[in-house]
Amino acid sequence: MSTSDLRILLSLALALLVALGVYLVLVEEAGPGTVALAGACLLALALVVAYLGRRRWSASARALYSLAAGRPLPADAPAELSGPLAAVAEALHDVRQERDLLLAALDASPDALLVLDAEGRVRFSNAAASTVLGQEPHALAAQPLAWFLPQAEAVDALRRVRREGGSASSTVEGPGGRPLELTVTALGSSGRLLVSLRDLTEVRRVDQVRRDFVANVSHELRTPIAAVKSALEALRAGAQDDPQARDLFLARAEEETERMARLVEELLELSRLEAGVDVFVPQPVDLATVLSRAVERMAPRAREAGLGLALQLPPRLPPVRGDAERLERAVLNLLDNAIKFTPAGGSVTVTAAEGDGGVVLTVRDTGVGIEPADLPRIFERFYKADRSRRRPGAGLGLAIVKHIVEAHGGRVWAESSPGQGSAFSIFLPLAD
Ligand SMILES: Nc1ncnc2c1ncn2[C@@H]1O[C@H](COP(=O)(O)OP(=O)(O)O)[C@@H](O)[C@H]1O
Ligand SMILES: [Mg+2]
Repeated sequence: MSTSDLRILLSLALALLVALGVYLVLVEEAGPGTVALAGACLLALALVVAYLGRRRWSASARALYSLAAGRPLPADAPAELSGPLAAVAEALHDVRQERDLLLAALDASPDALLVLDAEGRVRFSNAAASTVLGQEPHALAAQPLAWFLPQAEAVDALRRVRREGGSASSTVEGPGGRPLELTVTALGSSGRLLVSLRDLTEVRRVDQVRRDFVANVSHELRTPIAAVKSALEALRAGAQDDPQARDLFLARAEEETERMARLVEELLELSRLEAGVDVFVPQPVDLATVLSRAVERMAPRAREAGLGLALQLPPRLPPVRGDAERLERAVLNLLDNAIKFTPAGGSVTVTAAEGDGGVVLTVRDTGVGIEPADLPRIFERFYKADRSRRRPGAGLGLAIVKHIVEAHGGRVWAESSPGQGSAFSIFLPLAD
């Protein structure tokens, strides 16, 4: 009872007592009138107490409703209740926050997580469960999981864990043929189960990439090894006694050894770039120097191939941010291709221009060109548009270029007209 309630009650009782006293003084004899008046006073008192009690009761009820709804306690909450109610409200608030945090953590999980009741119906599912099973959360709620994963392996695993406890795993096919790793774990002895589903699509893809990689490396090594082996066999079989034949086979063996060494070199370079080890400290690089050096180094090759090689630079080029040696490696790879894929009599031109907060350098040739179907794939490792693989190279050069350019925060792209030539461009941001 609040103090204001008490005050009202006391003043009412006092007023009634005074009225009763005045009446007794004026009317000496207590007759039926006195008794009736006393009865009326008592009744009025009882009514006031009942009214105040009701008011208190509805104030308490309102306070409890607010508590349940997580709203602040109303101002008229009974004083002796508001202390404990505030404590309960605070505890509830903490519990709600904990619950929200746990739900957010479960929703952030890349694995689908579901809790099944003893009947195998979904009692809880996180966001990934909806994605993996291709169902809206409300479509999963209270439905048997077997509806969505009807495969025998899944049903068996659920049944086994429900019967024997512990946990079980198996691989099942999800909606859309996605491979899923299913793990079922018993939650205590309640008959409830925790089910997790991991999408194996990406794992399988990475596995395939690894297998392809090993197959490609083995394939690229097999050819030069066979060539060296046959040259050595020929020498042993008598070619070593004929100076002309000996030189021929030795040169062949040397060339193929060179090819293997180059492959290993490129593989190591690519793996270093992909692993992001030996990261370089970017420095202002003068592209004019890088391009001149690369063109100078390739000039003899171009001459041998009967090609013109020209460098056209603007009078001034602002420095770019990066590593001069790696940038030269990228340009050398582009020049190597341009020379390799341009028949004698053609030309290779290197240009550079400032624009868009960076410098674009371009290596253009008048060579065989690239079919539109091959163009989007040439930067993949081991990809060669020339299916006969007649020209040397394992198909790693452009993959290395792409890695180097991206490590510089730049972009590389190719344009080509089959039969007329290709242009490879690299954009590099300016050093600031
Ligand atoms: N300048 C070019 N002209 C024509 N085709 C090219 C040119 N540069 C690259 N290509 C195509 O892209 C493929 C991949 O190039 P790259 O990664 O350097 O490998 P590689 O030089 O070892 O063949 C080449 O095999 C070729 O088919
Ligand atoms: Mg190449």
